[in-house]
Amino acid sequence: MSQSPFFSEGFSNELRLLLEWRRDVRRFRTDPLPDGLVEELVGLASLGPSVGYSQPCRFVRVDDPRRRASVMKSYECANRAALASYQREDAELYSSLKLAGLSESPVHLAAFCDCATSAGKGLGRQSMPQALQYSAVMAICILWLTARARGVGVGWVSILEPEIVTRALEVPESWELIGYLCLGYPLDDDPEPELMRLGWEKRDIRAATLIDR
Ligand SMILES: Cc1cc2nc3c(=O)[nH]c(=O)nc-3n(C[C@H](O)[C@H](O)[C@H](O)COP(=O)(O)O)c2cc1C
Repeated sequence: MSQSPFFSEGFSNELRLLLEWRRDVRRFRTDPLPDGLVEELVGLASLGPSVGYSQPCRFVRVDDPRRRASVMKSYECANRAALASYQREDAELYSSLKLAGLSESPVHLAAFCDCATSAGKGLGRQSMPQALQYSAVMAICILWLTARARGVGVGWVSILEPEIVTRALEVPESWELIGYLCLGYPLDDDPEPELMRLGWEKRDIRAATLIDR
């Protein structure tokens, strides 16, 4: 057993700042990220917990302009459908929102869950099979935070048609799309979620409530 490191109060305070300033980023500078940074972030994401230690998250870097164009087309299609589902003020506000930085962000990462992995031997997911997908989300969350710690913004795009994106990226059939991430240096920073600032949703005080039973 090696000795565990000591995390100082200063570190905890900085971690809190990181959590407060993480943000979903939709406005990016177009300049590239330093060589090797994406590999480093993916390596750190692999340190995340996973059910049965199944490590099911697979990141695909999407550089090919034709594949990116397919993803963009899928976004536009899904976004049109989403807009049509809202009425009156919500529709007006929705149409004014910027909900992806697909055209500006220098790095696109699609995150998949390898649903056919034998790693973990099924431990922990016999009665809750979705724990595998949750494990992939944990990896994404770590990547999101570690990217922000290096000054890099991440924007999660879910306004997409998963089958179209999966087909465009030619990944194995057993891989399920969990999230499509845009990475790059943010154009602006704010301690508050943009959707809150723009009046789409308020902070829900119940979300930070702890219920005792
Ligand atoms: C699973 C997931 C999917 C999301 N999909 C989108 C999306 O398609 N477009 C978007 O603008 N933001 C998306 N977001 C970002 C949320 O809107 C954002 O996290 C929320 O508004 C709070 O803002 P913050 O992340 O800056 O704190 C997504 C976030 C998550 C966790």
